[in-house]
Amino acid sequence: MPSPTTSEKGPKPSLPQATFCFHCIGCGSASHAAAQDFRCPQCNNLLEITDPSWKSASQPAATLKSVWRDRRSSNAILDLSGVWRFRELLPAPASEQHVVTLREGNTPLYELPQSGRVTGVRRLYAKHQGMNPTGSFKDAGMTVASTFARQAGYRWVACASTGNTSASMAAYAARGGMRSLVLVPKGKISWSKLSQALDYGALTCQLRTDFDGCLRLLLELVRRAPVYQLNSINPFRIEGQKTLALELLEQLDWQPPDHIIVPGGNLGNSSAIGKALLEMLDLGLIPRLPKLSVIQAEGANALVRTLREAGGKRLVSVQAETRATAIRIGNPASWEKAVKVLQATDGACEQVSELEIAEAKAEIGTEGIGCEPASAVTLAGLKKLLREGFVKPEETVVLILTGNLLKDPEYTIEFHRGSLFQGAAQEQKSAKLNQFRHPPVVLDATLDAVIKTLEQAEKSDPTHSNV
Ligand code: F0G
Repeated sequence: MPSPTTSEKGPKPSLPQATFCFHCIGCGSASHAAAQDFRCPQCNNLLEITDPSWKSASQPAATLKSVWRDRRSSNAILDLSGVWRFRELLPAPASEQHVVTLREGNTPLYELPQSGRVTGVRRLYAKHQGMNPTGSFKDAGMTVASTFARQAGYRWVACASTGNTSASMAAYAARGGMRSLVLVPKGKISWSKLSQALDYGALTCQLRTDFDGCLRLLLELVRRAPVYQLNSINPFRIEGQKTLALELLEQLDWQPPDHIIVPGGNLGNSSAIGKALLEMLDLGLIPRLPKLSVIQAEGANALVRTLREAGGKRLVSVQAETRATAIRIGNPASWEKAVKVLQATDGACEQVSELEIAEAKAEIGTEGIGCEPASAVTLAGLKKLLREGFVKPEETVVLILTGNLLKDPEYTIEFHRGSLFQGAAQEQKSAKLNQFRHPPVVLDATLDAVIKTLEQAEKSDPTHSNV
């Protein structure tokens, strides 16, 4: 049977030769193979993928830029992917036949005029990774990692997840003809994400623990059973997620913004963006580095505390609690990688409250694009970084929106109905968010009732304008 990913028509682009290796971020040892837990056999630290061919840049920066741009008008399978389009900076699979793709990447860069007015930042953009095939940034990493799982001949792939990784992994496994095992914390992920995993045919286990407990168990499992782990500890995931930054810079005509702001959970994404920025600088694709800042929820602030209380030298883990369930993580696996990229790019690390997240999410909603709560920490964090003077209003800022609005409808509906903070410590203070609420109105089905409601709405907000 022809594979679902390669049976389509179109010219066959060639892949570069595989010359990559796994490099330990702790002791620096390098190897051409990695164990299933993707840890260094010498010192147990995380691995990252490096490839001498990226450094020696078989082609000069200007050629790479024009090759990548030209591929946007090609109908070849690899070129249609906003990830594999940048394959010169990715680990190369042995054959194109192994590639599992859903046309990921190619996500829009939006201006945010309303949030720009609120914050005073005139050049404010959002790179919306929620516009990926399964609705989150995970797809960019999953296309690469699932390709290598398939190439290695695995029948089963597995992950621990707060929801988005599992949705993405289940989709790519299905597409690549593999089975998938999902471990999620029971009752702590949104229904929408859970429904994706079910629909894509995953074996879904809701464990009575949190994300950190799920990940611990998964890492034990991969030592005992022949399953391929697809969490962001898997360095192939990081490689795919690098393309977010490549595509962003391409959209900005390779003029680096002053700031890129990203939510932080398990810290794979910030590590990936940072790695991409450093590689781009190295290759002469960009003239200078943007500052990469990571924002966490106050209740899941392990990286913030790791930097403030331990100078970034050891992980300060926390018992995570936040309504932004995607980043409800207390023991982030990639904390050391994230510390390194923050230091290398001179970025900041901040935390924001549940009320700040809710307000920022509502504001992004009024831009007509929306996002899930975890993504909204970026706008909330920007406001804080502006108050601290770390970001200046005249600078160019890009927020990375990691998940689609439809990923967490429960949160959005509870917010607009006014029940999000009911019974919570923030209940009283949450009254100030009423101005952002747009609850549905129940009416008799008469023209009169609708016209009256329309007039009332106009009276209560006569100056409202989106332009
Ligand atoms: N935003 C969203 C929407 C996420 O789903 C996640 C992580 C993050 C931000 C944080 O990214 O972990 O790379 O720092 N979600 C994972 C999951 C953990 O299982 O879906 P990170």
